[in-house]
Amino acid sequence: MTQWDDSQAKAVSEDITEKSNALPARYFTDDDVFEMEKDKVFGQYWVYAGHANCIKESGQYFTRTIGDRQLIVVRGHDGEVKAFDNVCAHRGSKMVEDTPMTDPGDAKRIKCPYHLWTYDLDGELKSTPKSFEEAGLNPDLEDEDVQKFDAEENALNDVHVDTIGPLIFVNLSEDPMPLAEQAGVMKDRLEALPLGEYEHATRIVSEVECNWKVFASNYSECDHCQANHQDWIKGISLNESELEVNDYHWVLHYTHAEDVEDEMRIHDEHEAQFHYFWPNFTVNMYGTADGYGTYIIDPIDTNRFQLIADYYFRDSELSEEEREFVRTSRQLQEEDFELVERQWEGLRTGALAQAQLGPNEHTVHRFHQLAQEAYDS
Ligand code: FES
Ligand SMILES: [Fe+2]
Repeated sequence: MTQWDDSQAKAVSEDITEKSNALPARYFTDDDVFEMEKDKVFGQYWVYAGHANCIKESGQYFTRTIGDRQLIVVRGHDGEVKAFDNVCAHRGSKMVEDTPMTDPGDAKRIKCPYHLWTYDLDGELKSTPKSFEEAGLNPDLEDEDVQKFDAEENALNDVHVDTIGPLIFVNLSEDPMPLAEQAGVMKDRLEALPLGEYEHATRIVSEVECNWKVFASNYSECDHCQANHQDWIKGISLNESELEVNDYHWVLHYTHAEDVEDEMRIHDEHEAQFHYFWPNFTVNMYGTADGYGTYIIDPIDTNRFQLIADYYFRDSELSEEEREFVRTSRQLQEEDFELVERQWEGLRTGALAQAQLGPNEHTVHRFHQLAQEAYDS
């Protein structure tokens, strides 16, 4: 059994060509891989930042940390959403405090607290305090020789922003592939739904002890459902469900055992749809609630990730049924946390060099392949 023998886990590109081959285990447990992912995964692809409904007015902003970078995502004076590094062009101070999407800030300008350089919502440097206009403390320089700053030259560093409906994505690379290309059919499908008409209702943040890719892999298959999600599978015909795989996106379509009323859901199909979007975002559409959810699977380090679960309903005030629905969803998360933490305990022992994927884990294989492609790029 080669998968138990560490020496057999060759370079990743050679290892996972067969559908049954998983990404070798060391790509989950090695700290160098985690560092590499900051650049080759999170620095290269479109990553979900947050929801446009949370920053409807110009000047409203939230921060979003991706790898080592923290961005300010702000609605500009022209109504467009922009994103900048939360780093001052003067001497590199972090500028605004951490501000989650669920509790956005409001600013006419972005002011650095260190020496008060002030930028407009387009990122241009608008003003510097008096100490940058006079050279009273510098015997080698006359006041009139002090140079004026070029507003554009000293602008904030902006990053690419694009949207799918109200969902805002950012890309840290200089020259990214278009979001439409990375999203493929997902873009058209989500844009055909009235996602923007729903309001953010609640957020649950959890820290989980395992590599982020373990949870992503778990989300992408349902062979574990029968044994581990007893309550949830009661309403689902697992055998009639379908797992669809696209380039950077896969969908788990779950058919309901009994038809649920049409008004109950945002989409028309008689099913629940769970969309996974590479690298770390999911859109969850349930058959039993008029709303949708999103997960962000943010790595913290090799051994931990943060799951940010957001729920959107017609109204930001939850009804009793919606509250119950969120409770059920939370139960599902906790069941999965137990599974992935236990899997992580096994994986990090190093005993298993490479997992063996089953025929319904072709979605997991796609996820592992994308990781491989990113590492090789
Ligand atoms: S570092 Fe921001 S104003 Fe000096
Ligand atoms: Fe699960």
